[in-house]
Amino acid sequence: MNIMTSPPSQLRGDLQRNVVRHVSKTFDWAAFPGNVGFPDLDRAQMRYVGAGGSPKVGEPGTLKPEHFTVSLIHKPVGKFAACHSHEVEESFLIISGVLTVGWEQQGEVVEIKLGPKDMILNARDIGHGFRNDGIEPVLMSISVDAGKPLPPVYLYHPKNGDDVELSRRFGAEPGKAIPFDPQGAHPLQSIMAKMVIRHTEQPTLWDAAGFNRKIYVGPGGVQSSTCRKEMLGVPAGVGVKPYVRDVEDAFMVLEGTLTVGWQEGDERVEMELGPRDLVLNPAGRPHWFRNNSAGPVTVWSVIGTDQPETVVFERA
Ligand SMILES: [Fe+2]
Repeated sequence: MNIMTSPPSQLRGDLQRNVVRHVSKTFDWAAFPGNVGFPDLDRAQMRYVGAGGSPKVGEPGTLKPEHFTVSLIHKPVGKFAACHSHEVEESFLIISGVLTVGWEQQGEVVEIKLGPKDMILNARDIGHGFRNDGIEPVLMSISVDAGKPLPPVYLYHPKNGDDVELSRRFGAEPGKAIPFDPQGAHPLQSIMAKMVIRHTEQPTLWDAAGFNRKIYVGPGGVQSSTCRKEMLGVPAGVGVKPYVRDVEDAFMVLEGTLTVGWQEGDERVEMELGPRDLVLNPAGRPHWFRNNSAGPVTVWSVIGTDQPETVVFERA
């Protein structure tokens, strides 16, 4: 039998170009020039949307950012990231492992431990670093706003002659790091309390369309002036009708598989995303999602505006 295959349509090609498969990428151990030559600072980055603070912008296979970037960071056991500050807002969403994040102010450091599905939004211009004190590597998704890609200012870093152990503690003297306590007296405590989401403490909101969400960043979550970030739970068999935003949104699958679709006129195309695959839906594109599988799917979603939700989802 002669099977005729037609070339993919323009729409299918466009969707395929906006999907980043986890297995199509390679972790980059040299993403951050400031770490080169310092094995204590080892970390690897996988760039999905934009360079996410790395100077390696515009590489093939990485999507062009509009309002936000999305990357994965792998932090091996025992390694740390030196305390630094920058003008962009930066979120860490933990996917696996336990990450210790420290915020520093004039030699005083507040530290918090974050587990899977917890998030911190690092405030602009506050010194922050992170460290893996756990027994397994940390994998996290980092998003920064794409607007001002200025290089970080390192506050404590071995390359500047700072002691490695002092740098590992983000600048705190031995035994002087303060554990995070939202009621704590240190000014950093109350700022940090507004910027942390514990997955299990954030309400689960059920949408009339049959899926749920936890709001991480945006009205109901951490306040931001750039983007909204949500974790969606979509039960087996649930999907929504096509919807349109006036900004881009991105889905990264954390667990399960998600079918995503685009529409143009009468034409509809779909692709299935597996864990750690991402789709970037441009502004104005009618798009939808559906769970075709037998199990639930968990999705990390970033939306390129800080404004309240405008979409009224309808079950398909
Ligand atoms: Fe940072």
